[in-house]
Amino acid sequence: MKHPSLPGGTTHTLTLNLQMLKPGEHAGAHRHIAGAIRFITKGRGARLVVEGESFEIGAGDFATTPNWTWHDHVNESNETLMWLDVLDSPLVRLLQVDFHEPYKEPKQPITRAEGSSYCELSPIRPSWVRSDSIQPPPYVYRWEDTEKVLKAVGERPGDPYDGILLQYANPLNGGPTLPTFSCAIQMLRPSEKTSSHRHTDSTIYHVFRGKGATVIGDERFEWEEGDSFVVPLWRYHRHESAADQQAILFVMTDKPLMEALGFYRQEALPQ
Ligand SMILES: [Fe+2]
Ligand SMILES: [Fe+2]
Repeated sequence: MKHPSLPGGTTHTLTLNLQMLKPGEHAGAHRHIAGAIRFITKGRGARLVVEGESFEIGAGDFATTPNWTWHDHVNESNETLMWLDVLDSPLVRLLQVDFHEPYKEPKQPITRAEGSSYCELSPIRPSWVRSDSIQPPPYVYRWEDTEKVLKAVGERPGDPYDGILLQYANPLNGGPTLPTFSCAIQMLRPSEKTSSHRHTDSTIYHVFRGKGATVIGDERFEWEEGDSFVVPLWRYHRHESAADQQAILFVMTDKPLMEALGFYRQEALPQ
């Protein structure tokens, strides 16, 4: 999804692609410097293989393929899957480090038992798993877990600017999803209206469930399930959900990059 005001990319640092995967379709194994994530919006039964481990993925699941990790996928089900495929490729191209390498075979070998990641990256983990690397391990965050947390904290006051916002943390150290961008699930309760603020990270939103509107500057953008929209950096914005239902947004932001460089700032709209 190319933003009309940019030479490429959905924001100046991130690209959002919508991908359809029909039954039997597969992608050859490869790796690249660009870090990537997938958020599955429809269907179940595809297999994503990252660094030798196979993950079965379906709607609401969120998967990372951090930079330079081998990955390939196949749809083994009878249904068509839809997912968001998001990469930091505009940033990687700007920095002129767009390395890419195909694997020597169409598929990489499975070298790790299914479920290894959940054991090795849980709070009870082997002593040799390092937590001090900036590079997170590949991981799949399950929708059932996300939904459980949404239910558990859904009645809390939440954030004045984002409502209930759940970060997909690096499972090893609680840091951002990837060094260059972070992902989150945002829930707005029925009739919720957030306060307005602005910040130096730019944000892409995808409406997973529900409907509502986001006011950016003086413009109001109505949205509903399946829509995607961008809040450019340093523009005041606020969100509203419809009166009769909650809204769930999948959120992608380059905030970790801005923070790492010391460029992050945010401010509330003066009353
Ligand atoms: Fe890729
Ligand atoms: Fe914001």
